[in-house]
Amino acid sequence: MASQIMEKLPEAAVAFDRRGYVTYMNRAAEKLLGFDSSGELHSSRLFLPGSESEDVVSFPARVKAVEKEAVVVSRSKSRIPVLVRMARVSCPGLDAVAFLKPTAARRAEQHRRIDRLASIGELAAGVAHEIRNPLAGIGTSAQVLRSRFAKDDERVKFADVILDEVDRLEKIIENLLLFARPKQPQLVKHDMRDSVERTLNLVREQAEKQEVKVQNRSEDELPEVYVDPGQMSQVLLNLILNALHAMPSGGKLALELKVVRKRMPASGGRRKTDVKPAGPARAVKFVRVAVSDTGHGIPKQNLSKLFTPFFTTRSGGTGLGLSISQAIVREHGGSISVSSREGRGTKVTIDIPVEKRHGERR
Ligand SMILES: Nc1ncnc2c1ncn2[C@@H]1O[C@H](COP(=O)(O)OP(=O)(O)OP(=O)(O)O)[C@@H](O)[C@H]1O
Ligand SMILES: [Mg+2]
Repeated sequence: MASQIMEKLPEAAVAFDRRGYVTYMNRAAEKLLGFDSSGELHSSRLFLPGSESEDVVSFPARVKAVEKEAVVVSRSKSRIPVLVRMARVSCPGLDAVAFLKPTAARRAEQHRRIDRLASIGELAAGVAHEIRNPLAGIGTSAQVLRSRFAKDDERVKFADVILDEVDRLEKIIENLLLFARPKQPQLVKHDMRDSVERTLNLVREQAEKQEVKVQNRSEDELPEVYVDPGQMSQVLLNLILNALHAMPSGGKLALELKVVRKRMPASGGRRKTDVKPAGPARAVKFVRVAVSDTGHGIPKQNLSKLFTPFFTTRSGGTGLGLSISQAIVREHGGSISVSSREGRGTKVTIDIPVEKRHGERR
């Protein structure tokens, strides 16, 4: 009966028994995966293990239902990214049913978006480059004018305004170029605590002025990581300045460093044929730096826009701080994430892989 219903569904549906073996696939699933339901196919062979899909691969008894992105491996060994919705059912001989929806279309859309962003970046960089020279001309002329006025001449004030604004524009241009053409990191073995301390020293005065308390904690045994220390300081500065901007009338800024282990796909996804055996996921070590503030927080509807270039809610902001930080962290093989509660505060976390080969991407 259940199988008759499943057969009619347009979506790929797979049923599993208690040991995780496939007991049934509808036609859509057979078409997607190339298997038929007669073989002894185990869920751990069907689903490629990954940090996000652990629940799907093993589907432990305590879990009643999951909805996750995962990768399934077809009979011809091709990897198909899917959205899995799996639910426990209590039918005789049947333990769980999974519905698989390929996410290729969604991925293609994401790629198009990345391409679009890349060309926006290129365009912005081109414009920025063109603005640089005339801007330098304006700056030098204002400086010459200023030097020709007597010190108490009120026109000095106007020349100073020009010079300040030229400075500001130059900084924006620098950021734009940095975002559009990120520099290859020069990796050296480095203690992230040094970057944190150095960056905190730069903002200490500002924090004091705003009555923001600064806390800096770290695990004693923090391994060194392969990073470009200058770029790391830049990321931290962006995050810390964002935190300070969110606390104009005081609060607490906390930096915390520790080691975390994340489960990553065992095969590393290097070769297409590398799928068998799907095997246990590998725990990979990361140094995690968390920057937390007790500021105004981020409204839910803005959370998904934070890493979009030029997204800003600050009048003086360019909206590039987080985009640049994300580009740098990714270039190091790491990741960055944000959690926030409006009115309570925000926590931005960066994870940097401890092993060097993860920092040698691209
Ligand atoms: N710690 C934080 N607390 C509250 N809002 C934040 C925090 N960090 C980022 N945001 C929000 O995300 C937006 C984008 O941040 P991002 O650093 O990319 O740009 P910006 O700070 O506005 O400008 P820029 O960094 O280029 O000077 C901010 O305008 C702000 O709305
Ligand atoms: Mg910023």
